[in-house]
Amino acid sequence: MDALINKIKNEGIVINENILKVDSFLNHQIDANLMEEVAEEFYNYFKNDNITKILTIESSGIAPAVLCGLKFNVPVVFVKKSVPSTITNAYQATVHSYTKNKSYTASVDKRFLNDEDNILFIDDFLANGEAFRGVESIVQQSKANLCAVGILIEKAYQDGHAYIINQGYKFKALASIESMNENQINFIK
Ligand code: G4P
Ligand code: NA
Ligand code: NA
Repeated sequence: MDALINKIKNEGIVINENILKVDSFLNHQIDANLMEEVAEEFYNYFKNDNITKILTIESSGIAPAVLCGLKFNVPVVFVKKSVPSTITNAYQATVHSYTKNKSYTASVDKRFLNDEDNILFIDDFLANGEAFRGVESIVQQSKANLCAVGILIEKAYQDGHAYIINQGYKFKALASIESMNENQINFIK
């Protein structure tokens, strides 16, 4: 998606070969117009897949996921990274983030996923895919169908990309990074 790739080229800061900083339009300040274009792009790609629910993870997945919710006209659920005292009955999975070198309990209240749901998972980044595996476990527990995966920015050389492809999910990344260093970001065409 050209608009997203151009935004990354203009405003992205490569911290090291594993971390791209995009806090001016995605992870801190949010470009709402760009998020709307992102949702339009995902809608064009997945509109015939009978999606009944959008699923994402807090916090940075929520903005693009909500705009997808508008396009698909379905509810948006986000995985929580802490277990709130108000949740009494939840699907849970332990996620270890290599990026942050810590683990957390991902949870979704059982009221918000069920065996009739056909889910599109949306997230801002795909790296090693640890968060994705937690989501996959939660969806399996709920007996919903994980139909498709939409990622804004993937670093295709990390493990998450191959994992999702090997599992056979319908997959779309709007910006696929092949490699990056302080001077350059190379996108897969
Ligand atoms: P991991 O297995 O390598 O730990 O990666 P995972 O995909 O689970 O991502 C862990 C966190 O790091 C996620 O955010 C993800 O969005 C973020 N992340 C991964 N790679 C990059 C990157 O290159 N740049 C930036 N800016 N973030 C990256 P999170 O900690 O779950 O939280 P939030 O930002 O969504 O609140
Ligand atoms: Na994220
Ligand atoms: Na993030």
